[in-house]
Amino acid sequence: MNILLLGSGGREHALAWKLAQSPSATKLYAAPGNPGIAECAEIASVDAADHAGVADFCKAHDIGLVVIGPEAPLVDGLADSLRAAGIPVFGPSKAAAQLEGSKGFTKDLCARANIPTGGYVRTTSLDEAKAALDRFDAPYVLKADGLAAGKGVVIAPTREEAEAALADMFGGQFGAAGAEVVIEEFLEGEEASFFALTDGETILPFGTAQDHKRVGEGDVGPNTGGMGAYSPAPVLTLELQQRTMDEIIRPTVETMRAEGIPYSGVLYAGLMLTTDGPKLIEYNCRFGDPECQVLMMRLESDLAQIMLACAKGELAGVEGAFSDKTALTVVMAAKGYPGTPEKGGAIDLGDAEAGGAKVFHAGTAIKDGQLVANGGRVLNVTAMGANVTEAQAAAYEAVERIGFASGFCRRDIGWREVERERG
Ligand code: AMP
Ligand code: GLY
Repeated sequence: MNILLLGSGGREHALAWKLAQSPSATKLYAAPGNPGIAECAEIASVDAADHAGVADFCKAHDIGLVVIGPEAPLVDGLADSLRAAGIPVFGPSKAAAQLEGSKGFTKDLCARANIPTGGYVRTTSLDEAKAALDRFDAPYVLKADGLAAGKGVVIAPTREEAEAALADMFGGQFGAAGAEVVIEEFLEGEEASFFALTDGETILPFGTAQDHKRVGEGDVGPNTGGMGAYSPAPVLTLELQQRTMDEIIRPTVETMRAEGIPYSGVLYAGLMLTTDGPKLIEYNCRFGDPECQVLMMRLESDLAQIMLACAKGELAGVEGAFSDKTALTVVMAAKGYPGTPEKGGAIDLGDAEAGGAKVFHAGTAIKDGQLVANGGRVLNVTAMGANVTEAQAAAYEAVERIGFASGFCRRDIGWREVERERG
């Protein structure tokens, strides 16, 4: 089977790396890809925004499966267009991708299906939103309803700051994504991620992870797309995973199906582990980045075959085998990130992979034959170990072998678990 993978980040490099190893994959194409992806796939010149163009490419190259990495093309309905052309797709329809594309949609679904999540109010005007703040205590959680490239969430410590943030949101800070704002109860606890694959009916749990969203060591400073992650997340015990399946994932999949918008693809639940049990913070309709990198490092099964089964509604009986070891990834970012990252800094990967580590490219380019930084998050240095402590040591050992003068990374990825393992 020939496969087309869409996307260009570290998540897609990890998917490409795993798909290229799949016994059921014949030829892998990727677009737009990156220099790392180019080592395991042939770069194709198709544009995910041009649905007819993607379908034409698939017909011309006998593509048996399209894997859509990022959320934007899913929310834009690319999976629907390709399915209409008879092409199997890994990823949800436009209607089902609302689980990520509209915070209000997901909150309403949770309310209908009795799924544990924070209390909320959907608002469509500044006056309405300000009045709704009365119903909550500080800190205030404010979310632009639509996709805002991960930047649409504001946690305001005081009412004054909340009102100012609401004024910005309704003033167009996030464009159309902020035409509606969801105000939410603040949940307390530790965050963890749970992944499941589903074809709309069968659900296959697909691993757990924890990431570090803040740019600074000790989890301080501005939010980023994620500065590192590890899998599995021991904090999600088997009992908590079962509760997540029973109380959150299964009711979601069943309700979506019952309401005529079956969900197919990967369902990524961001959870808050509260004293009352796991509560849903948000859904994503794609793999996490960099969580995908640590999941793929541990996956032992044929990814292409699993994704095809998912796309065809044939997930029943399919299993995903993961290594018992821990994988940990350290994000090397360009100085300036998450503000304006320095572009063009030279990268020397040296013998970083000599000890078994894997370096995924997230934001790189080749300029005059030299590998250079070309984005905020640039490399994902990923390694395995018997536990988080050992995986962390292996990942930082690989980081030390990389020359990237205009880059930086956090030195404490996995710290919570390392502390717990120390006892
Ligand atoms: P999101 O983009 O929805 O993942 O939100 C970004 C981050 O904001 C999450 O990873 C949480 O750390 C935090 N957050 C979002 N919603 C809540 C909530 N209801 N209570 C506490 N923290 C939240
Ligand atoms: N690392 C968080 C995300 O992919 O949304």
